[in-house]
Amino acid sequence: MTSGPLPSYLLPDTAEVLDADVEVGGVSLLELARTFGTPLFVYDEVALIERCQAAAKSFDDGVAFASKSFLCGAMARLAVENGLCIDVATEGELDVVLRAGVSPERIVVHGNNKSVTEITRAIDLRVHRLIIDSFDEIVKIQQILKPGETLSCLIRVTPGIEAHTHEFVRTGQEDSKFGFSIASGDARRAIDLLRAVPGVTLHGVHAHIGSQIFDTVGFDEELQVLANFTKDDSFDELCIGGGLGVAYVEGEKAPSISEWGAMVRQSVQRLGIDQKTRITAEPGRAIVAQAGITLYEVGVVKELTMRTYVAVNGGMSDNPRPVLYGSGYEAFDLSRPGLARDREVRIVGKHCESGDVLVDQAWLPSATTVGDIIATPVTGAYGYSMASNYNRVPRPAVVFVKDGKSRLVLRRETLEDLVNLEVE
Ligand code: LLP
Repeated sequence: MTSGPLPSYLLPDTAEVLDADVEVGGVSLLELARTFGTPLFVYDEVALIERCQAAAKSFDDGVAFASKSFLCGAMARLAVENGLCIDVATEGELDVVLRAGVSPERIVVHGNNKSVTEITRAIDLRVHRLIIDSFDEIVKIQQILKPGETLSCLIRVTPGIEAHTHEFVRTGQEDSKFGFSIASGDARRAIDLLRAVPGVTLHGVHAHIGSQIFDTVGFDEELQVLANFTKDDSFDELCIGGGLGVAYVEGEKAPSISEWGAMVRQSVQRLGIDQKTRITAEPGRAIVAQAGITLYEVGVVKELTMRTYVAVNGGMSDNPRPVLYGSGYEAFDLSRPGLARDREVRIVGKHCESGDVLVDQAWLPSATTVGDIIATPVTGAYGYSMASNYNRVPRPAVVFVKDGKSRLVLRRETLEDLVNLEVE
C-alpha cells in the first residue's frame, strides 16, 4: 500500500507546496525550523483572520472565539480586531486576554465552577456576558453583587442532545457537569431565580452540545430545543456554543464556518425565532485548527519486523490529543512534500511512555530519515493550549506568518523556565 502526497486541503490556506519545501504566508517552513528550532507551531495569520471574519459575518455581534482552543496575546488581539468577542473559562484565560489589551466589553466568562474571585472580577470588569452554570453560582452572585452593580448574563442549559462525537467532548446530554437541565425543570427554576436578583440582566440562554461535530443536524436540533424552551421569555440572545468540526485526515470533510452560519440562519427562520434575537456562537477549533501546523525533527528511525517507528523531538507534551481521544493526524516530509508517501510508520514522541504516539498510522516517503523535518498539519487547536511539561520538556515556540514575514508570538520555554517555580 502507499499514500499520495498530503492533500492540500489539510494545509493552512496560504500554503504553497514547492519541490523541496512548503511555504505558508510566503515563508519557508524549513527556514522557520532553522531559525526558531523545533518543535515549532506555525500559524497562518491570513487563515486565522479569514475565519474570525467569517464567524463575525455569519453570526450576530457577541459571537466569541473560544480561547481554550489556542490562546496568547497575539491571538486574542487578532480575534477582537476581526470582530469577535473572546470566551474565557478561567481566571488564567481572562488574565491573558486582559493583558493583551482586550476590552472587558468583549469578554464572555464561562466556567462550571467559577471561583469567588472569578465572579468578582467579572462583575468589577463589567464583562460582556457571564454564562451561569449552576444554582451554587447564582447564590455566589447574590452574595457578591453589591447594590448598584450590574451583571449581563446568559444561562447555560443542557438541551438533552447527544452530539455525534467523542464522549469526552460531548456536553449537550442530560448527564453532564455543565449547565441546567431543561427536562428536569432546573433551567426554568434558575431563570425564575435570576430574574429576581437585582442588578442581573438575563439576556438569554446558552448551550454547547460538544466539539468536533461534522453533522450540522445537531445544531438544528439544539436551536429547536432552545427556541421552544424560550418561546415565552422574550430573551434577546440565543448562543449555540462552539463545536464545529474540522477535517484532520484525508477523506474527512467539514462544513466551513460560513456554511455553518448559513445553516443556523435557515434553522432560525424555519423555527420562526424573532429576527431581533441575537444568534451567537463560540467557535474555537474551526478558527484555529487548520491555520496551525507543527514542525518536528526526526531523531530516530527504528525498523522492527512488525512496523517502523519514527521518533520526533516532541510528542504528547505538545499534542496530547492522540493519547487522550485517539485523534488521527496526517504527517508529511517538508523536504519531500510532492512525493508519494510510500512507507507506513508510527510517529512517536520522546516521552517515557509507549502511549506517546503522535500519528499511529502515518505515511511518509521511504526516503525520510534522521535529521529531516516533518510536519503534522491541522494542529492549531488544543495542541499548544493543552501542552504540558511532562518529562520536563519545554513547550515549543509559536510563530505567526503573513505576507512573507514571520513573527515569534510565544518564545520557546527554556530550562530556566522549568525551574522558575521552585522555592528552594
Ligand atoms: N464553548 C464552550 C462552552 C466550550 O466548552 C467549548 C469547548 C467551545 C465553546 C469551543 O468548542 P470548539 O468550537 O473548539 O469545538 N480538548 C478537546 C476539545 C474540548 C472542547 C471543550 N469545550 C479536543 O482537543 O478535542
